[in-house]
Amino acid sequence: MTLEKTGAKNPLNILEVSASGRRSESISRGLTQDIIDALEIRYGYIELTRRNLGDGVPFVDEGWIAANFTPDEERTDEHRAALTGSDALVDELRRADVVVIGAPIYNFGVPAVLKAWVDMIARARLTFRYTANGPEGLLKGKKAYIVVASGGVPVDSPADFATPYLRQALQFVGISDVEIIAADQLNKAADDTIDAARARIAEIIHTAPALDSRAA
Ligand SMILES: Cc1cc2nc3c(=O)[nH]c(=O)nc-3n(C[C@H](O)[C@H](O)[C@H](O)COP(=O)(O)O)c2cc1C
Repeated sequence: MTLEKTGAKNPLNILEVSASGRRSESISRGLTQDIIDALEIRYGYIELTRRNLGDGVPFVDEGWIAANFTPDEERTDEHRAALTGSDALVDELRRADVVVIGAPIYNFGVPAVLKAWVDMIARARLTFRYTANGPEGLLKGKKAYIVVASGGVPVDSPADFATPYLRQALQFVGISDVEIIAADQLNKAADDTIDAARARIAEIIHTAPALDSRAA
């Protein structure tokens, strides 16, 4: 059942976060596009925001820390300016129903720009909060697809620090419904691996539940 068939008026809001340093020939970018295409076919009506981290991501620095740890009502104009980039990244993540992340493994972990993105979106009081029972993620009800591409490291092997890190980081802000699409060990048999990743995308999106709750 598509959104159009259910009569939904709201589009499925998709945020694509791309971390590959490559603009062309990137396997992870190709597969995130495949996911977006499959979601569009499945749900009929999408709104897409592309966040290409290669265009630049702010880093945590002294001004950001001072601003972030100052309560909102006490922030100066300087504090607000220091948080502008981070606020924009949080806003687009909050608006998203579905987050599609393209994550190559670089030196056993995530690319530095993706770590910087996590640092920008993990915001106390906005995306998580501290409770008597520990931290609680505030971004509930979202779905994430993560394409993990690697040359030699198998996804979820002891040398893969990217996949568990991303699961943990998303879970921390409340996104626990996460599908991993492995495009790993591409140095071995790239075509077979990419075919298998595409087949998995087709399978998981075909079997995803209809978003009838969006049909209001
Ligand atoms: C700087 C850099 C570091 C990399 N480090 C690793 C690594 O530690 N382990 C691995 O299996 N592959 C590593 N690779 C290979 C990439 O994960 C692989 O080429 C992947 O396809 C890159 O994603 P992309 O095709 O979307 O650009 C590295 C590639 C680059 C450019």
